[in-house]
Amino acid sequence: MLGRLNHVALAVPDLAAAVAAYRNTLGAEVTAPQALPEHGVTVVFVNVGNTKVELLEPLGEGSPIAAFLEKNPSGGMHHLCYEVDDILAARDQLKAAGARVLGDGNPRIGAHGKPVLFLHPKDFFGTLIELEQS
Ligand code: CO
Repeated sequence: MLGRLNHVALAVPDLAAAVAAYRNTLGAEVTAPQALPEHGVTVVFVNVGNTKVELLEPLGEGSPIAAFLEKNPSGGMHHLCYEVDDILAARDQLKAAGARVLGDGNPRIGAHGKPVLFLHPKDFFGTLIELEQS
């Protein structure tokens, strides 16, 4: 089921500071910030060749990463995103195996304009997993 690692996502308290650190200190190529109000985050991508690092900052009230940043005030790894060929088939297979799909279980359009789903971290050893249709 699992394809490539599409990205590793880091929640950060200050996106401008994180962008400056990745661009200037680490010398990485960083995309322009993209506001995703329906996901409650502003995102940039750091391109690192074999995959991407997604930097997430809360956007608006009730951001899904606000509680994470309360527990991890300096930021930290928030989720891993794996590609799947068929997101609905993957969802049905995972649900049949007892994994919990977050939200209403229907894919939403993610930062790359493709359908995404999130799987409960308690079902995968403490790591939130995002699936993105490839
Ligand atoms: Co992501």
